[in-house]
Amino acid sequence: MLIAPSLLASDLADLAGALEICDRGRADFLHIDVMDGHFVPNLSIGLPVVQALVKKTDIPLDVHLMVTNPERLLGEYIEAGARMISVHWEAARHLDRLLRQIRDAGVGAGIALNPATPVEFLADILAETDFVLLMSVNPGFAGQPFLPYTIKKALRLRAIIEKENLAVKIAMDGGIGAANIRRLGAAGVEICVAGSAVFGATDPARAIIDLKRCGETQSP
Ligand code: DX5
Ligand code: ZN
Repeated sequence: MLIAPSLLASDLADLAGALEICDRGRADFLHIDVMDGHFVPNLSIGLPVVQALVKKTDIPLDVHLMVTNPERLLGEYIEAGARMISVHWEAARHLDRLLRQIRDAGVGAGIALNPATPVEFLADILAETDFVLLMSVNPGFAGQPFLPYTIKKALRLRAIIEKENLAVKIAMDGGIGAANIRRLGAAGVEICVAGSAVFGATDPARAIIDLKRCGETQSP
């Protein structure tokens, strides 16, 4: 299981400390939640912080754009050096164009999907994306409880991907921890975003390592 700690749940007054934790825990990605106070009812981290982080770490940045106008902001995050960027299906009026823009820049392109949005809506666009970020909470805040019905979405998405023989990865975001990551691995999720389960742990670096191992176990 690949683990992407979510910076949102870290001590935002100590970003250097969060990077150091992610290094020690050998995090696969660093998940950055960009919010605009419109698409989601919260504001968080923006471009200047991403630009600063890129200079300080070798961990690939995974930018999750929770904004109403991704077409207006996307270019800046590509330029800043994000290695993966996901845009919300619900916010993207011209999703195909946005995914192309991300991929043409050599960045991994992802579609983020709210819990209530069916995975079947992605049928025609899946071949144009590198990963799908299934939200397992309503986006906006760290520390919310996992929505169990989203596991069925992962299973259905996995079935579509296999049927079409695509190389799309399934990522999941929200409320993930030791209690559910094994089931997610068994459902075909390959990348787990974890905020509170990492930064709320007594030993956050250890928590990353433990989650990674726990998610490898294929038994449900
Ligand atoms: C929620 C964000 C998540 C969040 C995850 O809107 O997209 O990335 O920070 O935090 P936890 O793991 O605490 O749910
Ligand atoms: Zn996120």
